[in-house]
Amino acid sequence: MAACAAAAPAGAVGASLTGHWTFDEGSGTVAADSSGGGHPLTLTGGASWGAGIVGPHSLLLGGGGQYAASAGPVIDTTESFTVSAWVNLSHLGGYQTFVSQDGNQVSGFYLQLRGDTGRFAFTRIAYDSPKALGTIASASSIVPQSGVWYHLAGVYDAARQTISLYVNGRLQQTQSFVPNWQASGPLAVGRAKYAGNPVDFVSGRIDDVRTYLGVLSASEIAELAGPGRLSVDASQPGPAINSTQFGAFLEEINHSGDGGLYAELIRNRDLKEDPTSPVAWSALAGRGSSATISLDSTEPLNSANPISLKLSIGSVGSRAGVANAGWWGIPVRPSTTYRVSFFAKAGGDVGPLTVDLESISGKVWASSQTRGVTGSWAKYTTTLTTPSGITPSLSNRFVISTSDRRAAGNTLWLTIVSLFPPTYQNLANGFRIDLMQKLAGLHPGYFRVPGGNYLEGDTIDTRFAWKTTIGPIEDRPGHFNSAWGYWSQDGMGLLEYLELAEQLHAQPLLAVWAGYTLTGTVVPQSQLQPYVQEALDEIQYAIGPTSTPWGARRAADGHPAPFDLRMVEIGNEDFFDQSGSYNAYRYPMFYDAIKAAYPQLKLVATTPVTSRPMDVIDEHFYNNDPNYFASNAHLFDDASRSGPKVIVGEYATTQGTPTGTLAGALGESAFLTGLERNADLVIGASYAPLLVNVNAPSWPTNLIGYDALNSYGSPSYWAQHMLAEGHGDHVIGSQLVSGSGTLFEVASHRPGHTYIVVVNNGSADAPTQVTLNGESGATGGSATVLTGDPTAMNSLAQPLLVAPHKVKLGALGNSFRYTFPANSLTVLDLLTAGGAGSARARSGSQQVTVTAIARQAIRSGVASTRTAKVTLRPVHGLKPGRYSFSATGRIRRSVSVLR
Ligand code: AHR
Repeated sequence: MAACAAAAPAGAVGASLTGHWTFDEGSGTVAADSSGGGHPLTLTGGASWGAGIVGPHSLLLGGGGQYAASAGPVIDTTESFTVSAWVNLSHLGGYQTFVSQDGNQVSGFYLQLRGDTGRFAFTRIAYDSPKALGTIASASSIVPQSGVWYHLAGVYDAARQTISLYVNGRLQQTQSFVPNWQASGPLAVGRAKYAGNPVDFVSGRIDDVRTYLGVLSASEIAELAGPGRLSVDASQPGPAINSTQFGAFLEEINHSGDGGLYAELIRNRDLKEDPTSPVAWSALAGRGSSATISLDSTEPLNSANPISLKLSIGSVGSRAGVANAGWWGIPVRPSTTYRVSFFAKAGGDVGPLTVDLESISGKVWASSQTRGVTGSWAKYTTTLTTPSGITPSLSNRFVISTSDRRAAGNTLWLTIVSLFPPTYQNLANGFRIDLMQKLAGLHPGYFRVPGGNYLEGDTIDTRFAWKTTIGPIEDRPGHFNSAWGYWSQDGMGLLEYLELAEQLHAQPLLAVWAGYTLTGTVVPQSQLQPYVQEALDEIQYAIGPTSTPWGARRAADGHPAPFDLRMVEIGNEDFFDQSGSYNAYRYPMFYDAIKAAYPQLKLVATTPVTSRPMDVIDEHFYNNDPNYFASNAHLFDDASRSGPKVIVGEYATTQGTPTGTLAGALGESAFLTGLERNADLVIGASYAPLLVNVNAPSWPTNLIGYDALNSYGSPSYWAQHMLAEGHGDHVIGSQLVSGSGTLFEVASHRPGHTYIVVVNNGSADAPTQVTLNGESGATGGSATVLTGDPTAMNSLAQPLLVAPHKVKLGALGNSFRYTFPANSLTVLDLLTAGGAGSARARSGSQQVTVTAIARQAIRSGVASTRTAKVTLRPVHGLKPGRYSFSATGRIRRSVSVLR
């Protein structure tokens, strides 16, 4: 057999071309072998020439008896070989074999469309007998369509003893196969052999058939398949994108609240962080002064906060007092006013107190005096304003001191010492501005709070017992965050979690404690009712009228208006409870009680139940391999639509610390394209954990990192930022029909805009021909791209190492080439008119839409001439009927548009 080496795709070192038929002759009955292998094909039975995809012509076959064949064998079917072809079917039924090589009874291989499955396949039969076992490498997820070009490649790897099928440059399936015979008949294009007879005749076109001795690599096959083709079709409206599609999840972990989002700058303000030592506090004795501090429980402020910081003043020279180091520093910025409050009581005269914000080395940035302290507990407030022109800094401390010599030998008690910088939207007990701005950039539609493990606690006593987290901060006892191992001051209580969602225009997804702890304690059925009532009260606090007890309490706490609560989650990750109690009675008891009181609420289960309906189920996805997420990009494509909606309440690639890598972000983005495409089922997703103080991570990989002064978003943050901004109001059809096999996509539309999101998680650029159907062409727009070294991470030192870049796009029309860079996420925001969705949804865009559809109908050949009449489906927003078009595609006849 001739195995003449000729041109293979660039980089094809392991395989040599043994046959290549371009079918570009366009006339006659011979297709030359341009490989130099000397195997011309003879066109038989009326086979002729059609329009090609590679070059001007292809082999045109009309079914029964038409094919082209060589005189003798081209491939040694016992050695490694690769066979490829472009195929375009005009008829889909039955077996149709594009390339084969004859044995006596059967073919040595079949690159084919199978009649039994209707799918493309690369099939080999163990012996030269129709009775022998066939092995099929199939493309089960690709439904062939007529009139569409597909690139198929079959590979036999003799060393591995496998056969593989590639469609459009993507590996579909690999199967073990051990050949026991050699097919030494002619190579046939457009038919096969079975039971000694020619069979599987093709109706359609075949182009650029190649055979190789050896195994072409995946990238070489992708190169043969040519630039990727991405077709987007606005006339195929998909599901509406939910307002909750992109959400957020927050719990107290990694000092997310205390030392994070909650703007309080004083660490251990309630002195409870460690019962044995006043963490973050120190005595300050200036020149000629002496003082000591200790924790004291003998002078309680109240029952919620009985511990105070006792300053025993020995002598007073320059000053004697206490200093707080903050959460790994205290941020000082120019021209900033800080609010100070504390409770104090004196034993003897300690004089007026001085409150300072100063550097560790003692440079005072701002100072204020309070009135003298009495022998009874009282609240003292003041403000500190820093001068303009100073450089933002972190190595600072907060000081309360006396310089009054009469204080010598006397005692000062302090507790609930608070220092607040300006907060987001000036909420008094509110949130850190830079972090809120970052969260606002994610446009969360829901905010799942307050946990997570934090909600559950290790023990019942350390659960998130919401009633102890509301009211004035001095009345909040705080609690040990047993899930993550540190004290929670509960300044960030239920009200603040709800306000957080509100400030970000998100609906809270409130998770209620449901009778299960992280250590496996299950509240028995007979003892569960008080916790059900606790949840009912909690919901009443969130949405009850002010005439109800807990609605009134909400108003008293400063928020008379109900919150926008629509979903309540019953517990967290209850699949860990192996006792069966969730299904047996916990979920039912909460479900029945909440539905009875609040039938409008959607209830979220944390693991499947059968005992009661599930409105929504919360599924969590964590994996350290970005490919895990990419490989689950189609997880929901075929999922049942008859069950509950899905919310992906937690997901993250756990790669990189304290925040993640670009590779992780790209895997997640591929996954998110699948969630958006399936928006009818998956109503939202939220990354976890959201926040990490880089000085104290409790969890390896997080979304947004910070210290007390600065913050940054990880690549995953920027990816979500792009996705949350880069979508329309409904999904539209999209299909990747060839290319590198490393692309993931979703497309959506809103009036005037078509969004195409593409993830390329491969290490090569992906040149792609993008086609827009069902709408007018793009007149401009922008491309926002996130790319870089896949191992790259952002940090406080390099906050924008991986960050999106936006470029303007000019007019692109309906078909344009775009290269999606290696390791990238791209959002194309294209300015377009038309699309079925806009026709149905918006007034004012009707004429544009109609025009766009008409143009498209002409262009796609539905209307064969510019004045032809065509039938449009109702989905286009038009009444079914026949319409005529002008030369510009404008509808001549007046039409009525369905609304
Ligand atoms: O996100 C960190 C933790 O992961 C959450 O608290 C918990 O729900 C999950 O197991």
